[in-house]
This record gives sequence, structure tokens and C-alpha cells, in this order.
Amino acid sequence: MFNSFYKALSTNFDLPLHKINKNMYTLITNIKELLQIRKLDEDKISGKAMKILPTIKNAYLIIKNDTIFDFGKMENIPTIEADKIIDAKDKIVLPSWCDSHTHIVFAGNREGEFVDRINGLTYEEIANNGGGILNSAKKLQETSEAELFEQASKRIEEIMDLGTGAVEIKSGYGLTLAAELKILRVIKKLAKAYPIEIKATFLGAHAFPSEFKDDKEAYINLICDEMIPAVAKENLADFIDVFCETGYFSPNQTERILETGKRFNLIPKIHVNQFTSIGGVQVGIKFKALSLDHLEIMNPQDIEALKNTDTMPVALPSCSYFLSIPYTPARKIIDKGLPLALATDFNPGSTPSGNMNFVVATACIKMKMTPEEAINAATINGAYAMQLSKSHGSITIGKKANLIITKLIPSYGFIPYAFGSQLIDTVIINGDTV
Ligand code: NIG
Ligand code: FE
Repeated sequence: MFNSFYKALSTNFDLPLHKINKNMYTLITNIKELLQIRKLDEDKISGKAMKILPTIKNAYLIIKNDTIFDFGKMENIPTIEADKIIDAKDKIVLPSWCDSHTHIVFAGNREGEFVDRINGLTYEEIANNGGGILNSAKKLQETSEAELFEQASKRIEEIMDLGTGAVEIKSGYGLTLAAELKILRVIKKLAKAYPIEIKATFLGAHAFPSEFKDDKEAYINLICDEMIPAVAKENLADFIDVFCETGYFSPNQTERILETGKRFNLIPKIHVNQFTSIGGVQVGIKFKALSLDHLEIMNPQDIEALKNTDTMPVALPSCSYFLSIPYTPARKIIDKGLPLALATDFNPGSTPSGNMNFVVATACIKMKMTPEEAINAATINGAYAMQLSKSHGSITIGKKANLIITKLIPSYGFIPYAFGSQLIDTVIINGDTV
């Protein structure tokens, strides 16, 4: 009945639209349910509020160029001459996923170690035998920048198809000055080549290279005296990360690295409490970390330390799934009033998957998060963990038009429920269909 109100402008012009220097409008009509409607100042959602996912049923949405221009109930649809009309009848529209923790720039794979684990070796045993991160670092050091870009491009294209519209990518498989810079330059090139929003993190402190096995201080010096200044000089990273863990970087070493990063305006995000709780959470809080990620092993003091801070806890359920380690205690975290974000951790060793749909489903199935909590965690809270909540993570006028249009599904609960199905019909990034 609303057809008379809008029509496709392209039919009215003889000139092709791209030749006309004008604003482009896309109208999405008959949306069964439009999810995650937020005000601009709602930068993150915490505690009980995570159970609420504000929506509009039977909605329209208008995109102007690359941004969300207007939305509302179909009965209030304005008269508009749209360049493109998408009928979303029986489909759900939501903001695209915000994946705040990945290591997408890596060389090759570690399928061999996967089989070793099936045959009984542990992740730790493999790492202690020179496998793990050091295995990936060796491969990456031998791979050219062009080849790395090629491999990472495929992964970026894959995650865009899976509905991710903003992503953080870490270095950390280089572990030499040259190789770390190589990764960060590839990240910068990816950010230029693709419409997806990309944030870069320097993770030189991912593992100790074997030549520093007996002089760990020397590697910390290399990170602080050479790597961090070089990264900052080329403006290659937004954030700095450390793998704070038994056998990797101690809380004291983490402090020194974050302190140096801070002097170069690199904001901290830490890998903490993946296998053991050794005080990394407290270091993160002390340094006002933007996010603390992993958190599989949390004691009550760790959860307490996160209260009344601006730090986003980030859970990585695909990593727990792949390594068969405990899941982050989401219920304990959220029920204490804290926020929680969900991310993939896409990397060759612990999580060879960048599928945020699977992450959302696994959070519901294994971490007892409700679909509302999981969607909040994978959109607005993920955006917060990348300092992107002003532009991404919700349906808000003025934010980027980064959207997922689902296939015909009965309700949004189907996204985690039908966990193995591909439920995405269309992905829109910056106003353009992917
Ligand atoms: O986040 N935990 C540290 N780093 C990665 C995995 C490293 C690897 O095995 O390559 C992670 O799980
Ligand atoms: Fe990680």
C-alpha cells in the first residue's frame, strides 16, 4: 500500500546515476524487525541493560550515501525518491558485526598442529616444542608483504560476507622489528583497499622469539626502544597489546610495555587470563585499558577489579571452542553489572575462524547469554572496544550504514538458534551492498 509514496529515481533519469554529482539514497522497506536502535550517546551497554535489544517492527530505513539517514515505522515512511529500493519483507535488519579482536594478517596455517592436538598433544606442549606463535612467526618472516596482503585480503573478503563491518587487527606474528612493521603496513593497506573499518594494534609482545629465550629483558628492550617508536613514527597502530600470561609476558613486563606505549599514544588492550590469573587484569585497569580480552579464567577479584571502570571485557568463545578450554564466565561478568563484548580472535593457532555469527551462537549456547545480550555484545560493545561507538555498532542516524539483512527468518533469536545455517541475505557496508 505504500508503493505510491516512493519510487526509484533511476527510472526518471536518462543519465546514468554515477555521472550525476548528487546524493545517493537507498530505501529499505517492509523490514520485519529493525534491531539495535540506539541514541548516539549510548556508547556501551552493561549489566541488566544488555538483556534489552531495542527494535522497531515493520520498519523502513533510508541510507544517504554511506550513512544512516532516517528510519522508523512503515506507516510513517516519508515521501522519498530513492536511487535504490530493497524490499526486506520477512527479513530482519541489524547493524553489521563489530569484531574487536583478530589477528587476520598471518601466513599460511597451522593445520598440522590441529592434527597434533587431535592426537593428544596440548596447545602448551606444541608451543613449548617451538610450534604455536613461533611457528607462525617463522612462516610470516619468510612471506613477502605482497603475499601477506593477498592472503589477508581473502580473509577480509570472507568476514565481510559473514556480516562484519568493523574489525581490529593485531600484529604479533612478526616478532622482529621488520616483520612487525610488515604486518602493520599490510593492515594499513587493507584499510585503504576495503570499505570495512579497520583498527590496528601493535602486539610485538605476543611471544618471546627463541633467540631471546635466555634474555627476555633484551626482547622487552627491543619492543620498547625500537619497535614502539618505529610503529608510532609511521603512525601504524591505534592500540598496543601484550599477551600477559604464564610463560609469556609477566604483569611487570606488561606494565613496562604499556607504559612505553602510552608515551607514544598507543591505547592498551591486553590478552589476559586465557590460561591463568596472574594479575594482568589489575595491570589493565591501572593503565585504563580500552579492553581486556580472553578472560577465560577469572577469580572473584578479577571481576571485582573491572567494576566502575571504562574497560570493556571481551570474550572470545570460538577460541574456547577450538582449544577446548573454559568459556569466559559471561553470566558472572554481566550479572555483576559489567558490560561484555564478543569477538572472534581469528588467528591460525587458537581460532582459525572469523565468523561472528558462530561467535554469537556459541555465546548463547555455551556461555548462557541471551540472544539480546549476545547481539549487544557483538555490535555496540564491540564498537566500543575499538573506539568506534560514535560511528558503528547501532542503528542511529548519522552512523555508518553498515547493515546485515537476514534471509527469511521467524525472529532474531534464530540467528544463534540455527547456529550452523547461513542466514545472511545481504551485507551493506558504508551504504554499498557487498
Ligand atoms: O589470542 N593468546 C594469544 N594469542 C592468540 C593465539 C596465538 C596462536 O596460537 O597463534 C590468541 O588466542
Ligand atoms: Fe588473540
